[in-house]
Amino acid sequence: MKKIIAFAGSNSKASINKQLVVYASSLLENVDVNILDLNDFELPLFGVDLEKEQGIPQKAHDFLELIKNADGIMLSLAEHNGAYSTVFKNLFDWMSRIQSKTFFGKPMLLMATSPGGRGGKSVLEIAENRFPFHEAKITDVFSLPFFSKNFSDEKISDNTLNDELVKKVTNFQEAL
Ligand SMILES: Cc1cc2nc3c(=O)[nH]c(=O)nc-3n(C[C@H](O)[C@H](O)[C@H](O)COP(=O)(O)O)c2cc1C
Repeated sequence: MKKIIAFAGSNSKASINKQLVVYASSLLENVDVNILDLNDFELPLFGVDLEKEQGIPQKAHDFLELIKNADGIMLSLAEHNGAYSTVFKNLFDWMSRIQSKTFFGKPMLLMATSPGGRGGKSVLEIAENRFPFHEAKITDVFSLPFFSKNFSDEKISDNTLNDELVKKVTNFQEAL
């Protein structure tokens, strides 16, 4: 059976991106899903001096290893000031010091949601442009705007948006 990791680029305990990624991964069939939480991979703030003094923290190695051993990645990014959340960028920076190809050519369904109407489109644009340099094979990008209007009872309530996600999950599954 194929196995994937699914996680949100957020450390919020009530993360709406985690809720989205949990739902999206529940649409997969016969796939072993490992849902990760960045709170379990707490890292010091990246800095070149700290890296020189203390080396790369074990948890950055651990996360990279989880990516390496997965057949695919589902990721939903929180958007902070039009960009990655600090916690995600910090992990990404640490992992990129171990090796720059952080995504190992794995299929990735890249998502974002936010309370507003752009649904995290700014951070999605940044990631969509950048991740291929780190060997992400992005199968699709999905944005869910107005989270509280379009998501309830642990699923997407808007039929059009839900149909779009279902197609993109199927596409991701076929790429595994
Ligand atoms: C510091 C900060 C900056 C934010 N900037 C944006 C933004 O640029 N665009 C946006 O759509 N939402 C922004 N938000 C709102 C987030 O989308 C919202 O907090 C969302 O719940 C984050 O996702 P999460 O729940 O998965 O952490 C911001 C929130 C914070 C705390």
